[in-house]
Amino acid sequence: MGNIEDLLDKRAMVREGTYKLARWASEEEAQILYANVIEYRPDLIVECGTANGWTIAWMAAAALSLGKKIEVITVDISNRPKFYIDPAVEYVVGDFSLIASDILEPRQDISKLIFLDGDHSYNGVRRDWDSICSYIKSGDVVLFHDSKGERGVRRCVRQLKRSELYYAKDYKTHNGITRFQVPKDDGNSRDSA
Ligand SMILES: C[S@@+](CC[C@H](N)C(=O)[O-])C[C@H]1O[C@@H](n2cnc3c(N)ncnc32)[C@H](O)[C@@H]1O
Repeated sequence: MGNIEDLLDKRAMVREGTYKLARWASEEEAQILYANVIEYRPDLIVECGTANGWTIAWMAAAALSLGKKIEVITVDISNRPKFYIDPAVEYVVGDFSLIASDILEPRQDISKLIFLDGDHSYNGVRRDWDSICSYIKSGDVVLFHDSKGERGVRRCVRQLKRSELYYAKDYKTHNGITRFQVPKDDGNSRDSA
């Protein structure tokens, strides 16, 4: 079991290069996820694609810093060693698109932030989106990683933008992150901008 000091120490070591960690997201991208948790204060965070636990550690740290009860669940089809085991995170092994409904169906009425970073093929990411889209509601947020760097993700994101059903924001990072938000019932987004 880890603790917050252990996480901060490890993050500092990753930054300095004294702790070697395979990473699919830069620190800038991890900080964007952190900032989104702080901004939206969701009741539930769900990640598709845990890998070694780098991005979920940042989101869990943000949840902890908010001092409210936030459920944090991450799913990966394979069970790799984790960079940091967070006692506040539920690590689930399985195919996200097959188990998303088990996670989300009973939690439809609480606010959600979902991070999709699993299968990056078009069919894969589209399947992940299809498995969540009927459970997201007013104000909920879905972030796609690699919306610039991966063709399949780019295509899926383009389709969602064209639908004009969601507020979209692109973060111009190396791999790209795109955020979609379900418009609030009053027609406003929760964005401060
Ligand atoms: C790019 S890595 C995720 C990186 C992680 N979010 C991070 O930056 O710390 C993609 C992960 O998605 C997982 N994956 C691929 N297909 C999946 C699926 N259908 N369901 C759940 N996980 C999947 C892979 O095993 C891999 O660990």
